[in-house]
Amino acid sequence: MSKIFDATLRPAIMAAAANERIKESSQRLPVTRRVVERFVPGETESDVLAAIAASLRDGLSVTIDHLGEDTTDEAQAASTVEAYLSLLQSMSVATTTMPGQLEVSLKLTALGQTLPRHGRKIAEENAHTICTAARNAGVLVTVDAEDHRTVEERLDIVGSLRREFDDLGTVLQAYLRRTEDDCRDAAANGARIRLCKGAYAEPATVAFADRTQIDEAYLRCLRILFKGNGYPMVASHDPMIIGAAGELATEFHRLPDSWEHQMLYGIRADEQRRLAADGRRVRVYIPYGTEWYGYFVRRLAEKPANLRFFLRSLVPDRG
Ligand code: FDA
Repeated sequence: MSKIFDATLRPAIMAAAANERIKESSQRLPVTRRVVERFVPGETESDVLAAIAASLRDGLSVTIDHLGEDTTDEAQAASTVEAYLSLLQSMSVATTTMPGQLEVSLKLTALGQTLPRHGRKIAEENAHTICTAARNAGVLVTVDAEDHRTVEERLDIVGSLRREFDDLGTVLQAYLRRTEDDCRDAAANGARIRLCKGAYAEPATVAFADRTQIDEAYLRCLRILFKGNGYPMVASHDPMIIGAAGELATEFHRLPDSWEHQMLYGIRADEQRRLAADGRRVRVYIPYGTEWYGYFVRRLAEKPANLRFFLRSLVPDRG
């Protein structure tokens, strides 16, 4: 089932997601919203503040994503910046027990990276504004990874911002063939790196498609990061990866505060709490906002059971 899902259904879901008509009609379905709630705690800042408070009570760290991507309009990018500034102001008064417990995650395409004129400059300036506010609020920042066409420029922008904000982190996707080299660079320059498997539909020329190959690539990258000078952030729900991270921490004598696990809101919440109770640092990625569609579709495409659950919920209950 999983091979059929990977080879046919997954690319079909991702292609359908890019279709504006399908997007608009499925966003309007009340049932879509009910399923979305599993992965997104709400559309407003107060919804996400409640989710942050609950996670902190569970001993978890958080990273908050104001949903949105592929902005086609400079005013929209500016309103994303405003949303982050307001969020950071609210987060700065949260009661935390550990340094570094609060973080925000950004997508450069939501900040203007792919705008036709001066996209890179606009995104970098917007990210700079958010990094400055985050530093003042005592909140960390990590830049998310999007599709492979944006990687080179994102790493360039992050490298340039790190001259001023050396704790700025970014994401590397193990499915990309280039990522082992990127991990070597990051490990040498002491960066905070969130390593994930990768969630976009990518061509075979740039990415592994086979799950075993992706897992093997992930493990090679993780070893490079644990061996290096940086701060590895192990973004995976996979029990095999979680186990390997613990073993690498022992092998490379990593103290508990020199690396962390990360998982998505609504996925394996019991495991998040179990690891935290066991003394591991665990950060939960909490998205919020009205632009949840792209994020939601990537979650459906990750797991056959999610799609089945969604499709079943479309059928009226006959019982
Ligand atoms: P895998 O997909 O093998 O799943 C292992 C197990 O986890 C499953 O068997 C299931 O139990 C559970 N699981 C995983 N996904 C699930 C889902 N959607 N619903 C229910 N259960 C699920 N990607 C990207 O391209 N750019 C990015 O910036 C990020 N950022 C990011 C941040 C964080 C904190 C995380 C955890 C992940 C990302 N990702 C991402 C997504 C990532 O690339 C990947 O698609 C998912 O994490 C799923 O991969 P796993 O490593 O969890 O393993």
